[in-house]
Amino acid sequence: MSGKYKVYFSNDFEKTLQNKNLKNSHLLVDRNIWNLYRNKIKNKYLSTKIITAKEANKSLEEVIKYIKFLLKNNIHKNQSITVIGGALVQDVGSFTAHILLRGINWIFVPTTILAMADSCIGSKSGINVGEYKNQVGSFHAPVAIYICPEFIQTLPESEIVNGIGEILKHGLIKGGTIFEKITEEVKNIRNLRVAGEVIYQSLLIKKQIIEKDELEKNVRKLLNYGHTFGHALEGYTDHKMAHGIGVLIGMDLANFISLKEKIMSTSNFNKIHNYIFPYISTYMVKVTDYNKYMKFLSRDKKATEGELNALLSERIGKVKIVRIKLDTKLKNYIKEYFNTYARR
Ligand SMILES: NC(=O)c1ccc[n+]([C@@H]2O[C@H](COP(=O)([O-])OP(=O)(O)OC[C@H]3O[C@@H](n4cnc5c(N)ncnc54)[C@H](O)[C@@H]3O)[C@@H](O)[C@H]2O)c1
Ligand SMILES: [Zn+2]
Repeated sequence: MSGKYKVYFSNDFEKTLQNKNLKNSHLLVDRNIWNLYRNKIKNKYLSTKIITAKEANKSLEEVIKYIKFLLKNNIHKNQSITVIGGALVQDVGSFTAHILLRGINWIFVPTTILAMADSCIGSKSGINVGEYKNQVGSFHAPVAIYICPEFIQTLPESEIVNGIGEILKHGLIKGGTIFEKITEEVKNIRNLRVAGEVIYQSLLIKKQIIEKDELEKNVRKLLNYGHTFGHALEGYTDHKMAHGIGVLIGMDLANFISLKEKIMSTSNFNKIHNYIFPYISTYMVKVTDYNKYMKFLSRDKKATEGELNALLSERIGKVKIVRIKLDTKLKNYIKEYFNTYARR
């Protein structure tokens, strides 16, 4: 299935690209990375395909175009694809590598914090079909992952917060001293040594969970904390809201619903809210059309028969799956949340 793979941490991106694993490989690279780091990347690959990181490019049509490009460049089984970019380019590269020639090797150099601290492990890919997000995909792990925190230096602030979303999620699921450590360190994530440490901790938590449940039959579902409500916000904003920021708001909203349902105490809600809110306050959107938001919520992969398997939480370190109805009561909780916390 997805096999064994290693995650390497490197302080020197250029030296990393000299690695023998990255030879005999076709490059798929994010356009902004190409523009910023072209001199360090070019001339090392059998072919180079540059893609713009936008949701419209994470489509089956783009995958087919890319496959045709690779076939024209005579790709064969003993070659690989090297993906350099964020999780969007990762999704395109991973899915292509999974279906092309019934599966070829791929190598990943993640360049966003989200991709370094979360999506690079776990083997998943998701491709959009029209307006339906991530509805086609596969499990196909890269043969190696090279994490070079120096890429963080060129990330805009919103992309830093985007990555922090998944890191905090891992901390909140795990709890204990690791949560305390992560929340302290994440404040200094622009420091590359600290970034390496936080990314490592974040991946370790995810690794422990996915090793128990690779195919998301049980405990791996916890990693969807914040995602159901977050995905609906991403959809509601026509994907202007970044995934990790959606996850942060989604966790806060899930906790608010947990509070209303008396699963979480007021003091636990306030404690977690005070960790999350400083990151989201400037990105918060005011939902005004609640029927539209509920429509996106009901599209969740985990929604059936008017009900949702929601990831709610009792406290830090205790997230659980609760089946809730997609009804007026839920809509009113959501309304109350946005009326209280979204100023715009
Ligand atoms: N497969 C998975 O497990 C998984 C997990 C989470 C999210 N996703 C998907 O990934 C996508 C989001 O990925 P993302 O958050 O990594 O962002 P992204 O790949 O969309 O990149 C965000 C922006 O940052 C730019 N960028 C990337 N690295 C940069 C750098 N080092 N310096 C400057 N700019 C840089 C990109 O060009 C883009 O404009 C969504 O489509 C989401 O559905 C997949
Ligand atoms: Zn996510």
